[in-house]
Amino acid sequence: MHSAIRSQETNPAKLPGLFKKQFELCKLSRGQTVAIVSDLGTRPEYIQGAFAAADELGINIYEMRVNMIPGWTKVGVPTIGECKGTLEALMACDMVLIFHVPLFAKWLKQVMNNGVRVQMIIDCPDDLEQLQSPPGLKEAVLHAHALYEKTRQVRVTSEAGTDLTYECGEYPVMSQYGMADEPGRFDHWGVGLLHTFPNEGSARGRVVVQPGDIVVLPYCRYVQDRIDLEIEGGHITSIKGGLDAMLMRDWLSEGKTGPDDRDPFAISHLGWGLNPQCRWDSIALFGDAPEHNRAAVRSFPGNFLFSTGPNSQGGGKRVTRGHYDLPMRDCTIALDGNVVVKDGRPVDPKMIVARIPR
Ligand SMILES: [Fe+2]
Repeated sequence: MHSAIRSQETNPAKLPGLFKKQFELCKLSRGQTVAIVSDLGTRPEYIQGAFAAADELGINIYEMRVNMIPGWTKVGVPTIGECKGTLEALMACDMVLIFHVPLFAKWLKQVMNNGVRVQMIIDCPDDLEQLQSPPGLKEAVLHAHALYEKTRQVRVTSEAGTDLTYECGEYPVMSQYGMADEPGRFDHWGVGLLHTFPNEGSARGRVVVQPGDIVVLPYCRYVQDRIDLEIEGGHITSIKGGLDAMLMRDWLSEGKTGPDDRDPFAISHLGWGLNPQCRWDSIALFGDAPEHNRAAVRSFPGNFLFSTGPNSQGGGKRVTRGHYDLPMRDCTIALDGNVVVKDGRPVDPKMIVARIPR
């Protein structure tokens, strides 16, 4: 697809093997049913790979292709449910294998509440191979999850000047370790991360975004110049800097539904990455194609994933389009005073996972 820029390094004939491994990680068993939700942009070799893997494992599988190409920058688009029977079909299967982002869409919760697991795949073959959940990642993420759940106050600092404080407990902690291996679980092949939403109105302080931090949504680019953010009462009140500040201000302003809408500027999910297979320099190495960076740059170990916009996925009321995902390097994260990430590196030994050369 991007061969004019970089060659895909993964032999496409390896895909059935990768899908087989993923189905095993997801603990699918013989006789279970997988429903694929694809769209007009889904790579045909992914469907072939999933079908071949299912054949080998004795798993029943079919494809449901929705009539759209979900955009990269929009979430919450209802791809399921408007066509009669689609929601009912997904409620009845054991696992949904989906090739676009269903987060923030209402049907996703209904399906998960019914015990159906949902495995998302939105990255390119090289990333599926490189980032596939390594041993120990699940345990590390679940350990971090348990700590984050008990936490009441988080403080994030950096030498650059970030000093952000927020309270939590109002919204659930959500985590992903790269495999949807339990009933009702959502996961994303290639990640290893966790987040929660700050209590309403509680985020305050300042965030200093530095060159080398990444705007993965909506732009997929390294930040080039410093952005100074002031945060009060759960919202960004000031965005200062050069080009990157301009991009952020304009993008979030464009998400406003009216002059008084502040939702795009609300602080959204906050958390950190733990997958040692993921690399901060992914964009520099492989280019800025989103499908080469979705999992990688959100999950490299110790990044603080800052975001703005909706919180409906956590049970909140904000459904704004103004959504920024900004993995930051070199931050220190303290949970009720307990430092778990220091200067961008996990320091809690139970959160450190060995990287596997692939
Ligand atoms: Fe996000």
